Amino acid sequence: MKTSSIKKAAVLGGGMIGSSWATNFLWKGLPVHVYDINEEALKTARTRIRGNLEYLVSKGILKADKMNVALGLARYTTNLEEALKDVQFIQECALEKYETKQALLKEADKYASKDAVFASSTSGLLITEIAKDSKHPERCLGAHPYNPPHLIPLVEIGKGKKTSEDTVRKTCDFYKSLGKEPVVLQKEAMGFIANRLSVALYREAVDLVMRGVCSVEDVDRAVNYGPGLRYALMGPNLIYQLGGGPHGLTGIMTHIGTTVEAWWDDMADWKRWPEGWLAKAQEGVNQEMANRSPDTGRTNEEIVRWHDDGLIELLKFLKKL
Ligand SMILES: NC(=O)c1ccc[n+]([C@@H]2O[C@H](COP(=O)([O-])OP(=O)(O)OC[C@H]3O[C@@H](n4cnc5c(N)ncnc54)[C@H](O)[C@@H]3O)[C@@H](O)[C@H]2O)c1
Repeated sequence: MKTSSIKKAAVLGGGMIGSSWATNFLWKGLPVHVYDINEEALKTARTRIRGNLEYLVSKGILKADKMNVALGLARYTTNLEEALKDVQFIQECALEKYETKQALLKEADKYASKDAVFASSTSGLLITEIAKDSKHPERCLGAHPYNPPHLIPLVEIGKGKKTSEDTVRKTCDFYKSLGKEPVVLQKEAMGFIANRLSVALYREAVDLVMRGVCSVEDVDRAVNYGPGLRYALMGPNLIYQLGGGPHGLTGIMTHIGTTVEAWWDDMADWKRWPEGWLAKAQEGVNQEMANRSPDTGRTNEEIVRWHDDGLIELLKFLKKL
């Protein structure tokens, strides 16, 4: 595993994503300052972080005595100056609004160490725009996690126009030292990589249901018990490489390439949600949940727990835990 020069981190915004990032840092032994403008949010963050760490203990991933050490490494504050003291890495997790993130970064510039990296968890805002009023745009980048960040390894690194390569390298080394999988975008792209791929698949899922080809439940089953199982282990290019046997990706694409082009001609390319989709999707997914076997959960809360249990088994297999 990579080593990192980061010895203390701050998480700005202690909501769902901030609490999860803080869990990840603490679990790996890094002192963390959790900052929020709202006292109540900080209380919730404290409870969430404890709950996340207790869950890791219950799964045998973290020893109980290490959990107490981890909890002792956290400080909670509504004072930004205090939050940024002696911190080399800032994981920003505040509201998804340019005004909020820009103002927070401008304020953080006053107190942050001269070498601190500012990594925004933004799901879709441009880092160049977030950092436009910063005194140090070269030390700002996007670091988009997948929820929950303390379990899912992917972090998409987005460079702004002024982000330095040194900042990118330092950030990647830091995340790698935590066992994450940073992927660097070489250009700014709305939705980054993973969400673009997710919504490309989802458009076709919606279209298949709206055309009457299959139900909401069956489209989910088709993904879940087919390609989804493979995608947990490898990406689409490697899947096609293996699918081509001795001839690899080139072989299979030469073989089925023209057929795939005919599918593309027939597939959805609309840009606005079809009318009636939401009601149909909600009704279908309610039915799907009711049809699940009780041991895999039927409510949102039960299914999340079942999902996290399964994720942990997969991550162990992938040697990510
Ligand atoms: N929810 C997801 O699945 C997900 C996934 C990846 C990335 N993100 C991104 O992570 C960020 C946080 O999302 P979330 O889901 O945790 O939101 P959230 O609403 O749960 O938390 C936001 C927190 O920010 C605090 N806050 C607001 N203004 C602030 C300020 N000026 N300074 C400090 N704290 C402030 C709020 O009090 C709140 O506690 C967003 O940019 C979001 O796009 C979310």
